[in-house]
Amino acid sequence: MTGDIAETLETAFRAALDFRARARDLPPRPVASFDELKARFDIPLAQLGRDPARVIGELVAAAEPGLVINTGPNFFGWVMGASHHAGVAADWLTSVWGQNAGIYRTAPSAAVAEKIAGQWILDLLDLPPESSVGFASGATTASLICLIVARDKMLAAAGWPIRENGVFGAPPVRIILGEEAHSTIFAALGYLGFGERNIVRVAVDDQGRMRADDLAFRLAGTVGPKIVIAQAGHINSGAFDPLLRVAELAKERGAWLHIDGAFGLWARAAPNLKTLCKGAELADSWSVDGHKWLQAPYDCAFAIVRDGQAHEDALKIAASYLDKAPEGAHNPSSLVLELSRRARGFAVWALLQTLGRAGVEEMVTRHCRCARALRDRLINEPGIAILNDVVLNQLAIAFGDGATPEAQARLTEDVVAAVQKENRSYVGPATWKGRRIMRVSVISGETEEANIDILAETTLAAWRRIRPNSPSTTGDAASGMR
Ligand SMILES: Cc1ncc(COP(=O)(O)O)c(C=O)c1O
Repeated sequence: MTGDIAETLETAFRAALDFRARARDLPPRPVASFDELKARFDIPLAQLGRDPARVIGELVAAAEPGLVINTGPNFFGWVMGASHHAGVAADWLTSVWGQNAGIYRTAPSAAVAEKIAGQWILDLLDLPPESSVGFASGATTASLICLIVARDKMLAAAGWPIRENGVFGAPPVRIILGEEAHSTIFAALGYLGFGERNIVRVAVDDQGRMRADDLAFRLAGTVGPKIVIAQAGHINSGAFDPLLRVAELAKERGAWLHIDGAFGLWARAAPNLKTLCKGAELADSWSVDGHKWLQAPYDCAFAIVRDGQAHEDALKIAASYLDKAPEGAHNPSSLVLELSRRARGFAVWALLQTLGRAGVEEMVTRHCRCARALRDRLINEPGIAILNDVVLNQLAIAFGDGATPEAQARLTEDVVAAVQKENRSYVGPATWKGRRIMRVSVISGETEEANIDILAETTLAAWRRIRPNSPSTTGDAASGMR
């Protein structure tokens, strides 16, 4: 190998320390344009090998202007964790050790770390301890994994062994879900071969929660194998489907119940929030991210299935050179969609030990408290409407309340753009129930009240500048107020 290993790793180490030391105060939104970034990366492919320490130095210089600072506490965009340094340190070692966590024999320590960390996850989330836990790349793939198991089990129960018969010509399986299920659930269903005709949408309330009465009605009208998909933590409102009732209804009708709890399922780690997802423990499978509320480095999620044997039957890969794991151990790849794979368990193991139960509870509780504090700062301001109940960490905020829908959309876009431009906090726009909103997700590890103060100040200042009748307002949006 070319280059000095110590110098190469030390270059990365110094750059990492420098970056993390500054991340707390860096503007959260990168300002470099695509063309600027392209110019930095687009150097000629080296003909001869080069000194890796120099290359790493150049990588740092090229990448930094285009880094989104979601590792800092002023980031409220999408729903993204901040890669806690304990997980990052373990993740560095994961790369250094270079383990292929496909099967037990290729990476025994990685397999055991996943096994133990998986049990801790079940314990923290208070899910059935006998469940199997696949360490997946994100909630999208975790849901896909769980739904593969669900589909196979439901078809098997209908007398259709899928490994022999395949999906074509199988009895139709109906998918029953809330109208506002996350977009990645629809993507996973598409990958699995379910189209619109197989999907039954249940009406939702003003918070995006599945209506239990409509679910009962839809279930009663659906014959054959069924999978119900519920949600713990709506992307815009943070709301939870009425999980206890959903679980009872699914059970009565013999349906598999999967819960997409990408971030919301972490409410179960905080006793004062746990009632929000009462009944989640009754489901058959769950998907939850590690790289959101747990702050695990990207990428990391958990595909959890109550029936561990069904999980393995649906996903295992058989080949003469892929040995069975020794008694009591497992092959991690038999629970996910990859054979060769990253050893995600090391980072989760280190992170859970570092935070402890109390640390996870404190963080989740603090973020939810911060979300309520932001609501309280904004709610009395004329023209601002908080569209959700703020039961968790998400806020859906509309500006120009009382204006025409077009003017509201423009005013909201303008406020989001102004906050982004000021670049002390990061928030993004979304559309919910036909209204343009500023969506705020309080989920970045170190976020605390002081960061909420900054966001509240910049948002209020932007709104007071932009709102109709303010001295600086010109243009169409103002005339849209009614
Ligand atoms: C409810 C819900 N489900 C699924 C996902 C997808 O998660 P990932 O990006 O980890 O695949 C998200 C992402 O925000 C989400 O909020």
